[in-house]
Amino acid sequence: MRKSTEKPEYICNLGSLVSPVPLNKRLSKNPVLITRNTWIKILDGKIVETGAEGESLPAESINSIVFDAEGMLATPGLIDAHTHPIFVNNRQNEFVRRSRGESYQQIAAAGGGIVSSIQGVRKTSQDELAKIIQRKLDGFIFAGTTSIEAKSGYGLSLQDELKSLRALKQAADNHPLDVSSTLLAAHVVPPEFKIEPDKYVDLICNEIIPQVVEEGLAAAIDVFLEEGAFNATQTRKIFSFATESGLRCKLHADQFNSGEGAAIAVEFNALTADHMDQTNDEDIKALAEKGVTVVLLPGAVFFLGLDKYAPARKMIDAGCKIALSTDYNPGTTPTQSLPLIMTLACIKMGLSPSEALWAVTMGGAYAINKADHIGSLMQGYDADICLWNAEDVDFIPYAYGNMMPEVVFKKGKLVAQRQMQVIN
Ligand code: NIG
Ligand code: FE
Repeated sequence: MRKSTEKPEYICNLGSLVSPVPLNKRLSKNPVLITRNTWIKILDGKIVETGAEGESLPAESINSIVFDAEGMLATPGLIDAHTHPIFVNNRQNEFVRRSRGESYQQIAAAGGGIVSSIQGVRKTSQDELAKIIQRKLDGFIFAGTTSIEAKSGYGLSLQDELKSLRALKQAADNHPLDVSSTLLAAHVVPPEFKIEPDKYVDLICNEIIPQVVEEGLAAAIDVFLEEGAFNATQTRKIFSFATESGLRCKLHADQFNSGEGAAIAVEFNALTADHMDQTNDEDIKALAEKGVTVVLLPGAVFFLGLDKYAPARKMIDAGCKIALSTDYNPGTTPTQSLPLIMTLACIKMGLSPSEALWAVTMGGAYAINKADHIGSLMQGYDADICLWNAEDVDFIPYAYGNMMPEVVFKKGKLVAQRQMQVIN
């Protein structure tokens, strides 16, 4: 047996292998399949075989490169289907203000919020922005995330939205994290269009979308449909232009107020409807029937000190596809930890740890339209694998705030390994 940490052909000595089941392969209600004391065989970055329970490595592995997992638990690399990493300045001042009793909306009305993140992006060069983003991409890998969706939305002009997406591409091109890009020029109306917001909508439709599509900078479009951001008419207009240009639609909806988000998502065959904290039963039914993936973001509810979490149980029971994501952004939730989001989903939304793991892997894969090759550890899936110091899946959300993977593989290649040591 040759030992190597770089690109193993086998991972052996797995205490457990936890494989989320894609919807078309579900034979029972169980969202994950668990195999104890087993191994994984990897070829060309894909999982080609996994062992049966208790099976030792096959004889053919004798001259292969083997990574010894020493009893750790394997899950797929986590998938974060809703993030806003293209920002420069942190907004911890808002966190302190909220802890003294101000609300997110009050802070935004006083010049904080999304608008206060524009300045940093606008005055930073593309190269510098790419460097800043790259460090954030590292943070996802350390947290066990191997694929993300990432939105623009803090540039809010033609040149600064383009710069944001170009910088994201620049950062992602040299990084193991897999990034799906989304244009979120419709995050809020920038100050220079405050008096004539529809002119900004025109700019998005007539200039920003065509240029982004021409350069291939995004696969999807997103709109923040909310009081103080964009209304239903503006959202429909942007989605019509985007759909004609070949972009898939995603939207931030029902975060603070319930509105037409679900109806619009259904109308435009949206890939995802995100937040959905205030969504009613009728809308849940429509989203389930249309197969729109619902991306739940309990971190934002928690960090804003709110108490109304999305009705996730009802959504799952109604047959909705559910993803859980961080919503990583400088204002409403700066965590990059999906294990922490799993904890919130279990405690605040009534999911089981297995359901929560499915939602941060398979569910995330559906939300970024990649469920045919990431999100599971079944044969044929990419060898995106996290190894955890955990006996079973329940331990991951249980050990809240502590959980980070020991080892992360992306397409079969080792991309992170924890090495912290206590020095006496
Ligand atoms: O998803 N809701 C809109 N956008 C972000 C907040 C962004 C910010 O405050 O900077 C969200 O929560
Ligand atoms: Fe968001």
